[in-house]
Amino acid sequence: MSLPAILPFAQEQIRKSLFDGAIAVDATAGNGHDTLFLAKAVGASGHVYSFDIQQEALERTHLRLHSEGVGARVTLYRKGHQFMREVLPEQVYGRVAAMMFNLGYLPRGDRQVTTRAESTITALEQGLPLLAPYGVCTLVLYTGHPGGEKEADAVLAFTKQLDPKQYDAAWYQMLNRNHAPSVVAIKKVR
Ligand SMILES: C[S@@+](CC[C@H](N)C(=O)[O-])C[C@H]1O[C@@H](n2cnc3c(N)ncnc32)[C@H](O)[C@@H]1O
Repeated sequence: MSLPAILPFAQEQIRKSLFDGAIAVDATAGNGHDTLFLAKAVGASGHVYSFDIQQEALERTHLRLHSEGVGARVTLYRKGHQFMREVLPEQVYGRVAAMMFNLGYLPRGDRQVTTRAESTITALEQGLPLLAPYGVCTLVLYTGHPGGEKEADAVLAFTKQLDPKQYDAAWYQMLNRNHAPSVVAIKKVR
């Protein structure tokens, strides 16, 4: 399977930007793997804000965090990531060290409920300005489900037009698998 190969790759891009006391955002909580990774990486003095529109996803994430004893470091929102600017406390603006998007549907959930091009782009428009200098945002893109290709194209087009004076952006793609997920990594350079 190609999925496990690319997900740790996205986490590796993120890990470099995290430290004890950092603030991080998981834009797609899902089963909570990335939220847990972020919660461990920011330490007891850091904080993670995590979004999902499905109660099922938030319950799975909540359970995962509490079974690892890091639930207090995370605020879970049942809200679309396209509303993150109005939801996140103002004191985190410009201080977010890491932001992760893992697009598509909830594994072991309803495959009809997916992230969508339009709301994902709105979330990026709102989320990137919240990054701290040298903060990193990653997006895992999938093209194997309905709407996935359209969303991946929209993310790539959006990322390509980012001001290079403000952001470095790269696209990591597996070359030897069909419909393999790929990763976009965006770093705020100042
Ligand atoms: C691929 S899963 C995320 C997997 C997760 N990162 C993990 O580590 O387990 C995608 C998630 O995005 C959620 N989602 C869909 N639209 C959303 C939106 N507008 N805002 C936030 N989450 C959304 C889905 O409910 C689903 O749980």
